[in-house]
Amino acid sequence: VYAHRTVESARAESLFSIERTQLSFDERVLDLCCGSGRHLAHLLKASHHVVGLDYSEDLLNLARDLVDEEAQLVRADMRSLPFEETFDVVMNYFTSFGYFMEHDENQGVVDNVCRALKPGGRFFIDYMNKDHVLSSIEPESHRFEQGFEIVEKRWVDDARQRINKLTQVLKDGEEIKQSSESVQLYTEKEFTDLLSCSCLKIESIHGNYDATPISPNNPRMIVIGRKL
Ligand SMILES: C[S@@+](CC[C@H](N)C(=O)[O-])C[C@H]1O[C@@H](n2cnc3c(N)ncnc32)[C@H](O)[C@@H]1O
Repeated sequence: VYAHRTVESARAESLFSIERTQLSFDERVLDLCCGSGRHLAHLLKASHHVVGLDYSEDLLNLARDLVDEEAQLVRADMRSLPFEETFDVVMNYFTSFGYFMEHDENQGVVDNVCRALKPGGRFFIDYMNKDHVLSSIEPESHRFEQGFEIVEKRWVDDARQRINKLTQVLKDGEEIKQSSESVQLYTEKEFTDLLSCSCLKIESIHGNYDATPISPNNPRMIVIGRKL
């Protein structure tokens, strides 16, 4: 389903995050929710101490094939991170946040990031921009990928302020698999409040990977800051 999210497509994102957090070779960096490791491949060129964490064993296996022994891979739930003042930088790419239905659980992830950072450590979170999502939502799309038809249905749950997606994979017109995703929609204020009310200080916000300011026309809400 996400075959287009490749190592190559992660290059500009990784370089931007490395530059903006001023990650250096002797510093420890965590890719929180690293998935198949497409950003790890680039982080390894900027740091000798790269850790990728994800909950999915299947995705971690793909990451292992990609980075071999060069990066340390950890299977854990972001709600209970096994780190204390361990990292100089924590990266969180491509909307790997806001999955939990309860505010306190999403807030708890922020607290965990804070705990995992050394004092003065930096964080980089790339989240979806609510205004852009609401103005550009495509309720249904169809595409073909390696012989499979992929149908994606998207809708906003106004009461809970979440965006939901149902993905169906079809072979010869028959559904063979389906999965669903649900992510909290935050305004810029809600998101920065969430990130600031812990021990973190926000230093800059961008609307995309070219450092443009956040606006309804820009798809992302990229927040960079540090632990006090
Ligand atoms: C949208 S994907 C992004 C993956 C990767 N950052 C990328 O850009 O390719 C979100 C990732 O979060 C992981 N994830 C979901 N829930 C998690 C949890 N509770 N703890 C840790 N990882 C989780 C998923 O397995 C998935 O790899």
